[in-house]
Amino acid sequence: MSEKIQMLFSEKEVDRRINQIASEISEKYQGKELHLVCVLKGGVFFMCELAKRISVPVTMDFMALSSYGNSTESSGYITMKKELDESIEGKHVLIVEDIVDSGRTLKYLSAELNRRNPASLELCTLLDKPERRVTEIKADYTCFEIPDKFVVGYGLDYAQKYRNLPYIGIIEP
Ligand code: PRP
Repeated sequence: MSEKIQMLFSEKEVDRRINQIASEISEKYQGKELHLVCVLKGGVFFMCELAKRISVPVTMDFMALSSYGNSTESSGYITMKKELDESIEGKHVLIVEDIVDSGRTLKYLSAELNRRNPASLELCTLLDKPERRVTEIKADYTCFEIPDKFVVGYGLDYAQKYRNLPYIGIIEP
């Protein structure tokens, strides 16, 4: 069965916006080193593109979380599936996500990472669906705010497919 995907942001639009956010981040962290923490799997495409455009020295690490619920709704019960490889103590950490939906993942992550005494901790997301929020968390850097539609591409999946689309689209299953 094939799904219909309607373009929301073209590759060019996403590219342009990531350039802007990367400049903001580069300016903010001037003279410092930045440690990017990617939340697998969705954040990986965005993090690579962002990292390539940041002008201060960058290091990277990856973590995976699991949230129990069905495929379109997270339950709120989050556990760590893959730990970071390195300590973040004393580092300037930027969490990189593909999407903030309910906000539960970021809330859990920022509390968890703050406990580890980073020099600073900020949050960056490609997409934000503010209508869906159930917590008060807000990212420090957001590429696009979007309506409450199911989106794919640029790391975001539908049943694990379409992560590799170079643009962001709304899917009609
Ligand atoms: C997605 C996304 C965020 C989280 C956001 O991950 O990558 O981590 O959901 O949702 P929330 O704001 O409601 O917590 P998902 O669990 O789908 O895993 P994936 O990145 O491997 O696709």
